[in-house]
Amino acid sequence: MNEDIAKVLITEEDIRKRIKELGEEISRDYYGKKPVIVTVLRGAIIFLCDLMREISIPVTLDFLSISSYSGQTHTGIVRILKDLDENIENKHVILIEDIIDTGLTLNYILRILKERKPTDVRVCTLLDKKVRRIVDIPIDYRGFEIPDEFVVGYGMDYNQHYRNLPFIGVLKEDILTK
Ligand code: IMP
Ligand code: MG
Repeated sequence: MNEDIAKVLITEEDIRKRIKELGEEISRDYYGKKPVIVTVLRGAIIFLCDLMREISIPVTLDFLSISSYSGQTHTGIVRILKDLDENIENKHVILIEDIIDTGLTLNYILRILKERKPTDVRVCTLLDKKVRRIVDIPIDYRGFEIPDEFVVGYGMDYNQHYRNLPFIGVLKEDILTK
């Protein structure tokens, strides 16, 4: 698996440090509240597991699964594969994503969630590929801004593989074109 990686973009240590800061920020901002952390499966689960342990206030969890990607190309179709289990009306929602690229996926998810009348929704993403943005998304908590490169690891995949790499890396060119 490691032999498929061209370079490490963000190390385990840098991820850990940044997530600690994000956790502290969220704990301060939501002090006295009990937000629902909504995680978009599957890419964001490792981020969630590490982030939630850096949050010191009470939170609840819920999950959403959508499908919009096949390989490296955006199909343009966003489909709900698994909806939330709980009602989010009058709740503070923190939406957790692994990476925001064009913003199309998140734009769609935000629209669905807002129809359910939560008190508010804030977005927390580990990675922001800002140069690729098509729809403007307000990001409240951002781990890192990254260049326009296809990344894998720390939950993120290429055709469902590489999610278990502990760091964030860029795949070798020949793997992506294979
Ligand atoms: P968007 O709709 O273009 O913003 O795409 C967001 C989703 O695409 C993310 O939640 C990821 O699941 C996936 N994605 C976008 N860029 C990458 C990448 O570089 N590596 C792995 N997955 C990605
Ligand atoms: Mg995702």
